Formats: sequence, C-alpha cells, structure tokens
Amino acid sequence: MKILVVGNGGREHALAWKLLQSKQVDEVFCVPGNGGTVSLERCHNLPIRLDDFAAIGRFAQENDISLVVVGPEVPLSLGIADYLLAQNIAVFGPTKAGAEIEASKAWAKDLMAEAGIPTAKSAVFTEKEEARAYIKTQVAPIVVKADGLAAGKGVTVAQTIDEALSAVADIFQDGFGKVVIEECLIGEEVSVLALTDGLTIRPLLPAQDHKRIGDGDTGPNTGGMGTYAPAPLCTPTLLEQVEREVLQPAIATLQKRGIHYVGVLYAGLMIAPTGELKVLEFNCRFGDPETQVILPLLETPLEELLLACTQKRLAEMPPIRWKTGACVCVVMASGGYPGDYQKGKEITGIEPAQAKGAIVFHAGTLAPDNPKSASQNPKSDGGRVLGVTAIGENFEDAQAKAYAAVDCIQFEGAYYRRDIAQKAINSTIEV
Ligand code: AMP
Ligand code: GLY
Repeated sequence: MKILVVGNGGREHALAWKLLQSKQVDEVFCVPGNGGTVSLERCHNLPIRLDDFAAIGRFAQENDISLVVVGPEVPLSLGIADYLLAQNIAVFGPTKAGAEIEASKAWAKDLMAEAGIPTAKSAVFTEKEEARAYIKTQVAPIVVKADGLAAGKGVTVAQTIDEALSAVADIFQDGFGKVVIEECLIGEEVSVLALTDGLTIRPLLPAQDHKRIGDGDTGPNTGGMGTYAPAPLCTPTLLEQVEREVLQPAIATLQKRGIHYVGVLYAGLMIAPTGELKVLEFNCRFGDPETQVILPLLETPLEELLLACTQKRLAEMPPIRWKTGACVCVVMASGGYPGDYQKGKEITGIEPAQAKGAIVFHAGTLAPDNPKSASQNPKSDGGRVLGVTAIGENFEDAQAKAYAAVDCIQFEGAYYRRDIAQKAINSTIEV
C-alpha cells in the first residue's frame, strides 16, 4: 500500500521511516517532507503546502493512497481530516472539532471539567483588564496561557505577579481573544500518547521531553531538546491510572459532544512528588520529539495500528508489542535557538553517526540537489535540525550511543543538551 504523511519535521521523518519498515507498505509520500524523508528508500517528497487540502486530496485520489497520516496540529485545526473524509480518504488525525482539544486551551479545560479529569485550577478571561484584576488577587508563581495555537510559545510560567500581568498584555497585543490563568503545578512532566479510534484507547510507551534549552532544565522553553522512552516515572500502575482517569473519560466526553476522535490523543501530565497526577495540556497529534523515541521501540507494524483506528476496530487488535530496552533522542539545534538563528549550514557526519548504530531523524533540513546520493550533504533549515536517536539495552547504553553519534555530526553553531535521559539513568525505577 501507499501512505501519505503530512508534515516536515522530525516526527514525520520518524513516521515515514517506521511505516516503510512494514512489508505491507510499498511507498510513502511526504507533504512536503524534509531532507531526511527524501533520502529514505521508497519515500518521496511532494512540493505541496501543508494547507493545500485540495492538492493533497487530489494526489491521494489519483495515486491510490490507502491512508493519510497528519503530523502537525495546524492542518488538523484547519480541518484537513474533515476535508479528506468527505472524499472518502482514510485519514489518521482528528477532525477540526476534535483538534479543539489542542487549539483552544479554554475548550480543553471545559472538557476536562465535564469529564472530571484532574487538572490545574484555572479561570478563563476574554477581557484583558478582568484577567489582570484576577491575577492581582492570586499569588505567584502563576501560569498564563494564550488560548490558541502558538507553536509552543503560548505559555508563561510567571515567577512574579508583574510577569503574569505583562504576559496577559502580550497575549491580547498578539491578537489572541482569550487567556487562561492557571495555578502553577510542581513535579515532573511526562507525555502519554495514545492511539484511538474514537471508542477504544491504546496508550503508547510513556516518554519524557526536555523542554528547556539548557542542561539541568534551565533557560527558555523550546519545542523539545530531547526525549527518552519508556519514562520510568510513568510506571505501569500510573499508566493504567492515566488510562482510567484521563484518556478514557476524555474520549467518552468527546463522544458525548458528538466528536468521533480518530488519531493520537496526547496527554501532557505533571506528576507531583506525592504521585498525584494532573493534566497540563492535551495535544491532538503525535508529539515531537516524543515520536522519535516511541516508534523505534514499536514492534507491531505501525500501519496496522493506524488503519485499525481509521476503521474503528482498535478493540480487535492484539496488545501492542514493544522491543525491550530504552530509546534516547538528542536534538541538535541551530545556534541561537529558540531565539534568532541562522539557516543554510552544511551538515556533515550523518553517515558515520548512522554507522555507530544511531538513527538520525531530520527535523529542520533541506535536501541536497540529489538527495539519494551519499556524496552530498543536507543543509540546516530550522531551529531544531536533527534528532539523533539510539536504542540500547538500558538508558546508559542508549544515551552513550546517541551521544557517540552526535559527536560525529557537525554544522556551524550546532547546539545540543548534554544531559538528555540523565533523569532516567538517575531514576531508581527499573525499565
Ligand atoms: P502546555 O503548552 O500547556 O504544555 O505548556 C507548556 C509547558 O508549560 C508545559 O510543558 C509545562 O512545562 C509548563 N506548564 C503548563 N501549564 C503549567 C502549570 N499549570 N503548572 C506548571 N507548569 C505548567
Ligand atoms: N514535545 C512536545 C509536543 O510535541 O508538543
């Protein structure tokens, strides 16, 4: 079969790479893909924009595409699934109504309240002055969230009331019409991504992201500087609790609202030192870079699971099979990220890195003129450039392999954290 993947990041490279490992998958097409997807055998980049649904639909119809897998939230929240489903094209990813769970924090909070899902106490405001007056009655730290897609930049964990007040001003200045003010939770974060056909939900291995730019979780937030799975923090007992108290009520409440949600439901969780869990956010898609550490550990053919979701027969699928061991992904970013950074830097050393057993997922790269030729090098084309990923028997092993591969790769200004997965290594819980 032929599958079309929408998106151009590391997550989509990982999806295409995994799909192509299955004997049932003959070819993968990426819209628009990147320098990594185009270098995969039997994978083709298409010069179509993410939001050109008509062109995507036409290509799928004319080329006998069995499944469209949507990576990013933006096309989902613009209704790509609705558009393709209306043409009888199978699509993995929720409709516009379902994508509200990520696109509107206020909507997600309301759903959580209705479903009885544990989350931080919050208040929603559409008027700047009301939000500011409310903040003045609260104590810092306090969290301010823009209501809308903000590419990971919509949340301020304000350490002072003044910082929260100016975050509110910025949000309305930037054109958002709503703000969510939330109690600040403490603890450790974990991402639980689950596949769903709208009725049944199957969690994937829990993963932990490293959102801050600096070692030891310091400095500004980023899209994610590295990940590891399975996160020891989320024990099998905790995962069952997440399923029971978060994922199942979310799906049941979506159904009650008439939303048949097909795709990934991603719960970003905070686990308090007491073990209490609360939802920080929901996303309507695979996480990036969580996907880069979850998929290498997956044994069950990915397309079987995704098709079971689109055909509403996830309940009939045998349990998902996983490799044993651990997976670590170190993101190599452009110097200056998450602030201003330069693009177009030539990247060398990917082949030697792969020879060390790593999988080098491209996050922001441009393909060389002849992408299947090994003699040309890709160029950086984004803030996060590569996700250097390795599987090991345990976290020490996977971390050592990932960093040995990172050491092989060079581009001007390359920056990466040196402590990815250290928390898992220090954890007393066995994988
Ligand atoms: P979100 O986009 O809602 O996941 O927020 C981005 C990041 O902000 C999260 O990964 C957390 O690190 C932080 N964050 C969000 N909400 C809270 C909260 N209520 N308390 C503490 N940190 C939070
Ligand atoms: N890694 C965070 C996200 O995908 O939103």
